[in-house]
Amino acid sequence: MIPVIVLDDPELAAPLARALLAGGIRMLEVTLRTPRALDCIAAIARDVPEAIVGAGTLRCAADASAARRAGARFGVSPGFTPAIGRACQELALPLVPGVATSSEILAATEAGFRALKFFPAMQAGGMALLKAWQGPFGDIVFCPTGGIHAGNAADFLALDNVACVGGSWLVPADALAARDWPRITALAREACALRG
Ligand code: 3PG
Repeated sequence: MIPVIVLDDPELAAPLARALLAGGIRMLEVTLRTPRALDCIAAIARDVPEAIVGAGTLRCAADASAARRAGARFGVSPGFTPAIGRACQELALPLVPGVATSSEILAATEAGFRALKFFPAMQAGGMALLKAWQGPFGDIVFCPTGGIHAGNAADFLALDNVACVGGSWLVPADALAARDWPRITALAREACALRG
């Protein structure tokens, strides 16, 4: 269960990470979609070492270097390019590259990646596409994100080729703005219970 986090205030980073940890979630993806996302990653890496913080929305090799410097322990990209793959391999930054088609899976596996983000999952074909991939890509595991929520996460997790799911529903913008940590802990707890 990986929350896809959009955060721009480093002061909120550690309390948010602790709220998610209290609900049972350790893997945190902080997306590089805000000016201070890297500072938020650095704050979590420094202040909440028991969390495993990664950088999401890596779109180029420079994003990967910046994420590594900030203390990210893994990277996630919405798509795949050989340049991003190479940069992460050179930095020893574990990467979950994004795919939405069979050709993209071939490109990512050719570069050595076997655990892939399926994005945008609901829009690109949802569970039906994941089931179709079980034939030709039976050795690949996916993390679907995009349109996943508490109501459909369990169905995705039940598929043999789904290792985890991600989504922004775990950290709603209004809960973050209100610093409503108990609500975020409750959402995390509810999500973790879906794993069965
Ligand atoms: C992602 O980058 O994985 C998505 O922005 C998450 O999609 P969601 O907002 O539909 O959960």
